[in-house]
Amino acid sequence: MRRLFIVMVGLPARGKSTLAHRLKEGFIAEGIATELFNNGELRRKFLGPSSSHPEFYRPDNELGRKQREDLAVMNALHAKEFLESGGEVAILDGTNVGRKRRDHLCELLTEAPVLFIECANNDDDLLATTVQCKARLPEFSSLSQEEAVRCFMQRIEYYSSIYSPLSSEAHYMRVDTLRNQVLAENNAAELPYYLHIRDVVVSDLVRGMYLARHGESVFNLEGRIGGDPSLTEHGMEQAYNLAEQFRGKHLAYVFTSSRKRSLETAAPVLAMHPECIHVCLPELDEIDAGICDSMRYEDIREQMPEEYLARHHDKYHYVYPQGEGYSTMCERVERGLRKALFISGGKPGMLVIGHQAVNRMILSLFVFRNTKDVPYIYVPQNQYYYIEATHRRKLFELVRFMAPQGENHDDSEFST
Ligand code: F6P
Repeated sequence: MRRLFIVMVGLPARGKSTLAHRLKEGFIAEGIATELFNNGELRRKFLGPSSSHPEFYRPDNELGRKQREDLAVMNALHAKEFLESGGEVAILDGTNVGRKRRDHLCELLTEAPVLFIECANNDDDLLATTVQCKARLPEFSSLSQEEAVRCFMQRIEYYSSIYSPLSSEAHYMRVDTLRNQVLAENNAAELPYYLHIRDVVVSDLVRGMYLARHGESVFNLEGRIGGDPSLTEHGMEQAYNLAEQFRGKHLAYVFTSSRKRSLETAAPVLAMHPECIHVCLPELDEIDAGICDSMRYEDIREQMPEEYLARHHDKYHYVYPQGEGYSTMCERVERGLRKALFISGGKPGMLVIGHQAVNRMILSLFVFRNTKDVPYIYVPQNQYYYIEATHRRKLFELVRFMAPQGENHDDSEFST
């Protein structure tokens, strides 16, 4: 039997627990007896709400420091017992940001090698949104949202002041948990299950994502591109019908762009699911058509024939003057999707309400398409895509929720 301790490392809200759960799930699927040991759970169980106060984490609070140390040791002892009684992989989930704590753990965890996995990502926007979501946890229920955010940020600051990144540990892996990339490794390949762990770390996990396009907008009706139009009456009807799809279903997060048509499409879904967290991500805004914004395709053809033909010739690489192209928007849309997956922890029940070009980019990250074909992926307004993707399974389904309504102007760019 091959045994291993995995010790998570990183500041709060960096995706440690999400990755720890993914690792556990991956091991269990391989038939490897695995258990998670979470410091936070012990803290909440034994110390209750007082330990949510930031002062508990102040580095010079001797009592708080000792209590956290004691809980980390108790957690390690539980993990040891698990390996001693037939367990194969024990994952210790905690911040473990100080070298002294990590050295202490290494002294205790003698039954098997120890792999430290450090979770890092330094996107300030993402941190702010993640903390907003964390502030809604039951642990902070006695505080206002603002107060809870302040407490959590203060907690992060205290941890940052004692943070020492992995460097001298015998076996480690540093992971960018936003991009799912291995940033650095030290002797990790020598350890049991290395290839399996690496595979899980770099896989994008989507356990149930609905990808919808906003309902018909005033510009769609007029055949204009870009802008920030509202929905038409028919578009609102599509939004209500989309919401009906989620009646009685679990929905934890709705991600929109910052555009009115996306926000207005989300409104009926959010009204039906008040418990759902809405996150607005400008990275999901529609392609910026630059000097062509608000024009109709036929106007572009008449007034700027060179631009029109250049786009026709190579739609993927074409970039609107003073705007974007598919090739140049790719990175920001992918960042938006990654943020959404990070915030939702890849759990089931997330809805993304995007735009035609944005949804094409998102879809192209899941289904293989030659780049030249990406700008032509079918993104109707009366259907949504349902996507599941793990490193073992991929599911991709187009679900119709309303009958189509006649000719759709914005799909007819080259047929007019
Ligand atoms: O027409 C709707 C729209 O979302 C426009 O705002 C955007 O410019 C266009 O679709 C993107 O699709 P295409 O790349 O096919 O022009």
